[in-house]
Amino acid sequence: MIDTSIQMGGLAFRTPLLTGSGTFGYGDEYRTLIDYSAFGGIITKSISRLPRPGNQPPRICETQLGGLLNSIGLANPGVEVFIADKAQILPFDATQVFISVVGDAVEEFVSVVEKLEFVPAVSGYELNLSCPNVQKGGLSLGGDKDAVAEITRACRNVTKRFISVKLTPHHALVAPLAEAAAAAGVDALTMTNTLVGMVIDAETRRPKLGNVTGGYSGPPLKPVSLAKVWQAAKAVSLPIWASGGITCGLDCIEFLLAGASGLQLGSVLFADPYAPTRILREMSEWCEKRGVKKLSDLIGQLKT
Ligand SMILES: Cc1cc2nc3c(=O)[nH]c(=O)nc-3n(C[C@H](O)[C@H](O)[C@H](O)COP(=O)(O)O)c2cc1C
Repeated sequence: MIDTSIQMGGLAFRTPLLTGSGTFGYGDEYRTLIDYSAFGGIITKSISRLPRPGNQPPRICETQLGGLLNSIGLANPGVEVFIADKAQILPFDATQVFISVVGDAVEEFVSVVEKLEFVPAVSGYELNLSCPNVQKGGLSLGGDKDAVAEITRACRNVTKRFISVKLTPHHALVAPLAEAAAAAGVDALTMTNTLVGMVIDAETRRPKLGNVTGGYSGPPLKPVSLAKVWQAAKAVSLPIWASGGITCGLDCIEFLLAGASGLQLGSVLFADPYAPTRILREMSEWCEKRGVKKLSDLIGQLKT
């Protein structure tokens, strides 16, 4: 038996597997379908202060090489409706629950976190500072290290719960953003969100997404996110949550070696909702064959 448990920021996770925000609804939708015991934690779709309708459809399309392009535009019912409709279904046994929080400005992040502080089963928050599909907030905030520090510090001041900040893959240099978030008191960093991409239908001469551009995710993103995880792990001594292109156990092993402590499953859940159990089994088999007893022993063990 491999020990799959991971400790991060005072929380115990029974496995390093998490759901990527926006790819697992608000956490309960899969409850009758899959076994949640493969997850250490669940991260909800991003929630804002007021309801957001999202972008013009079509909002999602596949690309070559197993990639996915989405321009959902952070459609969500707003924090009040989330609390009224969904909060009572939390928690999910021993699975840690994180609410992804999004806003146009620092005040919105703070007000959403303040409201969620009254929901007892929440383990913490992932601050989405990197959505590529919105006009305000998103990349314009997450690309600025002062804004990252300000939002993080303001949220830190209103909660003692776990906070991860989700950063963009768009910057060649990860360290300034990672250091700004670390200095402001986060417990983890999520590396990373989607890359801005575009798909064109030559016959109609139109973009395939209503929003023209979207966020590129899935297997082609993996080398980018691996590099960002590795860079962030070198820059700060915080747990890193990997996000981008994970589809199998071997991907997870590579991310652990690069320095990740948490492993988010995103687009793969659309192709295979049963992936979490398979991926955990594949990781365990990889370890058994090599005499690795604890998954946590692999974290940051990349030889360079
Ligand atoms: C349909 C869709 C919706 C998403 N919505 C959000 C969101 O609301 N908030 C967020 O932080 N990330 C969102 N993401 C990004 C994912 O959480 C993840 O970071 C990204 O897809 C890369 O991981 P993957 O390659 O495993 O999918 C979304 C991704 C997809 C495909």
